[in-house]
Amino acid sequence: MRILVTGAAGFIGSHVVEALLAAGHDVIAYDALLPAVHPDPRRARARIPSGVEFVHADVIDPVAVATALRGVDVVCHHAAMVGLGVDLDDAPQYASRNDLGTAVLLAAMARASVSRLVLASSMVVYGEGRYDCARHGRVAPGPRAAVDLAAGRFEPPCPHCGAPLGPGLVDEDTALDPRNVYAATKAAQEFLATAWARAAAGTVALLRYHNVYGPRMPRDTPYAGVAAIFRSALRSGRPPLVFEDGGQRRDFVHVRDVASANVAAIEWTGKADPGAGRAFNVGSGTPRTVGDLAAGLSAATGGPAPVVTGDYRLGDVRHVTASNLRLRTELGWRPAVTFAAGLAEFVDPAQ
Ligand code: UD1
Repeated sequence: MRILVTGAAGFIGSHVVEALLAAGHDVIAYDALLPAVHPDPRRARARIPSGVEFVHADVIDPVAVATALRGVDVVCHHAAMVGLGVDLDDAPQYASRNDLGTAVLLAAMARASVSRLVLASSMVVYGEGRYDCARHGRVAPGPRAAVDLAAGRFEPPCPHCGAPLGPGLVDEDTALDPRNVYAATKAAQEFLATAWARAAAGTVALLRYHNVYGPRMPRDTPYAGVAAIFRSALRSGRPPLVFEDGGQRRDFVHVRDVASANVAAIEWTGKADPGAGRAFNVGSGTPRTVGDLAAGLSAATGGPAPVVTGDYRLGDVRHVTASNLRLRTELGWRPAVTFAAGLAEFVDPAQ
């Protein structure tokens, strides 16, 4: 099949391109090579394997998108701004890149009768993860108050009785509750894509990524994820600085496993009923704490032990960990990279 990958020079997109080529697909790589994400555009461009057609353009450009869509069977949409951002001044950029860009792409797909889409979404659409109270069962705590965080009360209490909660695994039917600008733009992308699927008889797989790490992860930018931040600190001989008390839970999933989920999702879009949109959580299935990650990276590099700072970021959620059961059962996907092997590769100086 002929597959258009947007954001193809990015961290995840570049691995998706490689996985698609390995699966025998014909790929068109599309990327704006934005300087904020790619300080060295030539290096980013070099990530596109030779022989793959490359379109250097923005998804906001309707003419470039329409041209790139010629003869395409499936679009794999990864062009987006990620991370928490710096401050609210980032909001117009997030909305423009993530939502306007998606709307331009969807309109062009409808005009070109391209009816299959895989959308890179995120676990952040759920807000806080799943929680159970011993007395009140499943509860949905609201955003944590700054006064609680400043006092070191990091665990969200039961909204009814204030009792401690047990965190659990979020499934795809959980209501969306985006809590920061980035999360709001990812939720809007999902709604736009499902509206497109209904109106254009398309099929869309919404892949809700957990915390992706691995080779080519962005580093030393305000949009870098915690694994890259910790690795950069260790490489300069400094300890990883762990926020809160280090007990916040995430699922660190390897980028090659995310790429293989894309290959499986593309197949699904060919079998699903027209008009269908379906979400799939993409995580390893094994929750870790941020403290575990820091300790693992310190040990793997032989560097200084992590320092737990008690600092916090107001937009952060405490725990979010997903069930990957749907991805496993419906798409037959299995993660192939263990946490230990993934970290060992991640700290390799050649990376
Ligand atoms: C990450 C992704 C986001 C994705 C989401 C899916 C990035 C930048 N963000 O968000 O795009 O949608 O996963 O689940 O890749 N922390 C520290 N020390 C630091 C920096 C962060 O302890 O120096 C902590 C944070 O407080 C947070 C955790 O690490 O508790 C994860 O932070 P981060 O890597 O920014 O990821 P998420 O906010 O989970």
